[in-house]
Amino acid sequence: MKFTRRAVLRAGLSGALLPLVGARAAPITLKLRPAPATTRFVGADGPETPVWAYNGGVPGPEIRLRQGERLRVTVENGLAMDTTVHWHGLRIPVAMDGVPFISQKPIPPGGRFVYEFDVPDAGTFWYHPHVRSTEQQGRGLYGALIVDEPDPPKIDRDVTWVIDDWRLTRDATLVEPFDRMMDLSHAGRLGNFVTVNGRNDAVLGVRAGERLRLRLINTANARIFALRFIGHNPRVIALDGQPATPHEPDGGLVVVPPAGRADLIIDMEGTPGTRYAIMDQSDPRRPFKLSEIRYGTEKPLRESPLDAPVRLAPNPVPEPRIGDAERHEVVLAGGAMGGMRSAILDGKTLGIRELAGRGKIWALNGVVAHRIDSKPLFVLKRGRSHVLTIRNDTAFPHPMHLHGLAFRLITRNGKEAPHRPWLDTVLVRRRETVEIAFVADNPGDWLFHCHILEHMEAGMSAVLRVA
Ligand code: C2O
Ligand code: CU
Ligand code: CU
Repeated sequence: MKFTRRAVLRAGLSGALLPLVGARAAPITLKLRPAPATTRFVGADGPETPVWAYNGGVPGPEIRLRQGERLRVTVENGLAMDTTVHWHGLRIPVAMDGVPFISQKPIPPGGRFVYEFDVPDAGTFWYHPHVRSTEQQGRGLYGALIVDEPDPPKIDRDVTWVIDDWRLTRDATLVEPFDRMMDLSHAGRLGNFVTVNGRNDAVLGVRAGERLRLRLINTANARIFALRFIGHNPRVIALDGQPATPHEPDGGLVVVPPAGRADLIIDMEGTPGTRYAIMDQSDPRRPFKLSEIRYGTEKPLRESPLDAPVRLAPNPVPEPRIGDAERHEVVLAGGAMGGMRSAILDGKTLGIRELAGRGKIWALNGVVAHRIDSKPLFVLKRGRSHVLTIRNDTAFPHPMHLHGLAFRLITRNGKEAPHRPWLDTVLVRRRETVEIAFVADNPGDWLFHCHILEHMEAGMSAVLRVA
């Protein structure tokens, strides 16, 4: 028997005896249909760009629910190729993780699949396909998934910014093909055009004195954003959906790697009627303006910044015990200028030229991901604490992402990481070594991969088994 919320409520009002203990509220339900669409990045009559989109929009619909609620999403594949939906950063059962052949069979064109799970953590998450990611996500398939805290900090406005870059031709169509060897072997498919919530002309309209919570989500295939809010002092209160010790970003730069998220608290302390640039300074030699904060002319909402706490309550993530953790190491190798000579592909050792001939150029511990159902890189004992050392032996940075679990970043190059943040994607810079720690409490086969999608496509992916 199914209860809708309303039926439960009515029955309650009529005094009927309901088994409230263990009874569940009806899930939040929605449909997602990935399909070809067109969009305009600029102006109301700017050029139309053919994209792939969920429910016709780039980004797809923002899914919003409260912590502990249940989500049911029916996906109807309107693409001409297989797809799935992955719920990035959500600690949910592996059967709902959207990884083809590990979690489920891919959804064929015209097919459907129902995802249903409880959301354990409050925070800023997102969703995207996990089939031919370079192209499917690169053409616009992604959306925000926001889980509200039962007791959120006091703010005036909650704003989500889904940030992407695109590689466009002069007539505003996407440059093809995807997966060029140059992109696979270097920094990935970087775009020449950036969008915020699918627009190139988006600005942050504010009123002086307001306090905003700005949720940044980087959905680019490969671009690392490093944002400076001129004239403002944002505080980071969450990273990758997990609460962080509130802090000012290092050097004033909010770094968001591909797939990463940052929740900021920004007090609008500027002057009514003025504008302040939001700059990207990821490459200090080539800064660009991402957007701007534009103040209305109204008088300030308040005279001095809101005096209210901004710290978020922690999510129910188990705390790893570093002292008696099991230790593992993953070495990232390959790519242009990386010096890798050979690696194992499908059980055979191949030289770098042969690998490149097959579009594979990156390896984790000497193994190139080939089929997604390949055997695990290693097995993590369930319920135990684990420390994973990730060593980057390549000439490029890699945002390494682990499915199904959140981890603490504990060190960078042997130095204690400030605030030891919880993350699901850690940026490992060239020649850098980081250590992450977590409790392997979620059983299953979990992907561990670089979220520069071209790197994942070209072999930088593996399975970690929790059993
Ligand atoms: Cu955004 Cu495999 O993940
Ligand atoms: Cu993920
Ligand atoms: Cu990478």
